[in-house]
Amino acid sequence: MEYLSEINEWRAYANDQRARGRRVGLVPTMGALHGGHASLFRAARAHGDVVLATIFVNPRQFNDSADLAQYPRTPGYDREMAQRNGVDCLIEPTLATMWPDYPAPTPTTVSVHGLGDVLEGAGRPGHFDGVASVVAKLISVTGPCRAYFGEKDFQQVAVVRQMVRDLAMDVEVVGCPIVRDEDGLALSSRNVLLSRAGRRRALALSRALTLVQSQPATASAQRERLRETLDAAGVVTAYAEVVDPVTLEPSTDDETGPRRAMVAGLIEDVRLIDNGPVTLAPRRS
Ligand code: PAF
Repeated sequence: MEYLSEINEWRAYANDQRARGRRVGLVPTMGALHGGHASLFRAARAHGDVVLATIFVNPRQFNDSADLAQYPRTPGYDREMAQRNGVDCLIEPTLATMWPDYPAPTPTTVSVHGLGDVLEGAGRPGHFDGVASVVAKLISVTGPCRAYFGEKDFQQVAVVRQMVRDLAMDVEVVGCPIVRDEDGLALSSRNVLLSRAGRRRALALSRALTLVQSQPATASAQRERLRETLDAAGVVTAYAEVVDPVTLEPSTDDETGPRRAMVAGLIEDVRLIDNGPVTLAPRRS
């Protein structure tokens, strides 16, 4: 596995791979790698791409400095894990490389209005500006590629797809299924911040989603079930929504068919998100 950190080397590496007829698979991460990231590396390999992973804890997508300070960092483990899971080139750019103006605001920001303003965007103002701006830069340096993202961050995938369409970027966005622990908890770099009791409480997120998946009902009935399950477990619910999977607009009780259930909550001050498919059924008359 190669290690790079400088923009010119990283761009040259990707150009060279394309010149050899290979497709570049970009896996952007913030490190603290886990099985969810490994599944992205493996998906890129399965497509036959040369796998280029980035690790950069992007301060511009944190609206809370305490959250940024406590974000897990495991550089030694990450390198070993990336190598073990088929990454060809690991790129760890410095803050000065990615955001030379930081902490001053960068003069250029990518904002995806609408999709970036709801759900996570409403609770974490500026979060998706930070995500879209950094992903745009990672793609700009890498050049034409397939870019892999986990669907645990379902809204992030929607925001990136919209940005790629609107800016006509030469990128195929690949959304990969959520990876869960045996007990149902969606893998997240933040899970390590939970105590044992907190982790047990966090299972309410996946339990709520399983419950609504198993029993089709109206959007408001599903929202109520999600919220009740989270409340009963003592999760401080940020949102418990049922939305259109493309526009992320809240579903109404007149709608039927497949939609997405989206939940977010605080457990021991750690913000966790999860989501899953849900079917809406007509109101009983
Ligand atoms: O999902 C993440 O880890 C981050 O939001 C991303 C896509 C690497 C951008 O910083």
